[in-house]
Amino acid sequence: MWRSLRPIGRSGASGGYRRYAWTGADAECRLWFQAQAEARGLDHEVDRNGNQWAWLGDPLRGDAVVTGSHLDSVPDGGAFDGPLGVVSSFAALDELRRRGAVFTRPFAITNFGDEEGARFGLACVGSRLAAGQLTVEHAHRLRDGEGVSLPQAMEAAGYDPDAIGPDPERLARIGAFVELHVEQGRALDIGGDPVGVASAIWPHGRWRFDFRGEANHAGTTRLADRRDPMLTYAETVLAARREAELAGGLATFGKIAVEPNGVNAIPSLVRGWLDSRAADQDTLDTLVGAVERAAREHAEKAGIALDVVRESFTPVVEFRHALRDEIRRVLDAGDPHGTGRPVPVLGTGAGHDAGILSASVPTAMLFVRNPTGVSHSPAEHATEDDCVAGVLALADVLEGLACS
Ligand code: GLV
Ligand code: MN
Ligand code: MN
Repeated sequence: MWRSLRPIGRSGASGGYRRYAWTGADAECRLWFQAQAEARGLDHEVDRNGNQWAWLGDPLRGDAVVTGSHLDSVPDGGAFDGPLGVVSSFAALDELRRRGAVFTRPFAITNFGDEEGARFGLACVGSRLAAGQLTVEHAHRLRDGEGVSLPQAMEAAGYDPDAIGPDPERLARIGAFVELHVEQGRALDIGGDPVGVASAIWPHGRWRFDFRGEANHAGTTRLADRRDPMLTYAETVLAARREAELAGGLATFGKIAVEPNGVNAIPSLVRGWLDSRAADQDTLDTLVGAVERAAREHAEKAGIALDVVRESFTPVVEFRHALRDEIRRVLDAGDPHGTGRPVPVLGTGAGHDAGILSASVPTAMLFVRNPTGVSHSPAEHATEDDCVAGVLALADVLEGLACS
């Protein structure tokens, strides 16, 4: 599976993946998913929101056990964030069949569309739409950096943008959703465990800061006469770092757009996107409030106009205790990794479709060790042994949930 997935959407220059929603690379990933499903005799379908499903058994029976993740990527993403969950799901089904397990509940593998939000700026679009956490009107207004709207992109890819929207009947068929994911930190590595179970996802969001000044000549405008929004942006970036340290949260400006974007022009507009996360809502509110206050103070002093818009927000997710405890029981019973310790339970600052779905269905997550913790980068890694450990853990969990 890795061999056939590996070249899709890979940049020769960076070695990273550029699998953005509704692009050619995305279409190739989708064909790959369909081929994996059909090779296993699963019924493949794409829902109204562009999420792919591979079914074993009758979905209409309800109380289904579903596993999967996403195949799209951040700009120059790694191979594992998303695909490890999808590949492991198919591999876990193969393992269950090898064991001769008999499914007593309907079972499905999913590929959720546009998890990273790399193209349209909003993460988890497929699962948010299905769960009714993103309105159709909002989704229809989303545009990429080139000005292409989400409906235009969907249409160009052969999908109907007018069909998107809440899909409660489909979600009601799911009794449990389990997402396996590469860990995006080093907790498992530090603890010496190949696999862990998720406890919670930090609240997180994205804010757009528009700094507007005055475009002018870089060679002829006296420093005293400039209204340069780049300076205010730079001061805001430094403030974000400081405030994150003070609050004990995270604040990152990782994306920027500059107008007119000329090397010899003072910018008229600097647009920066803040990604901020914290362990609890109060800390996150305090942190983002402080960054915005600092930006406004600097903007006022420099004669820069500032608009701040919250583009997305995901509240804290505490995964269902009953499902999590069931998973821990299954994994601890076999001690499949021979660590002699109970499987560790860890929180994460990363967003996931499982977090979005958790408001509608019982969800849980498994994490696979990442020896460096590096993620959202071509250097993201998991060893083959740990990937196999993840597959076996997922197979054990699915067997416990879905098989007799
Ligand atoms: C998704 O990976 C996110 O946490 O931004
Ligand atoms: Mn990611
Ligand atoms: Mn992911």
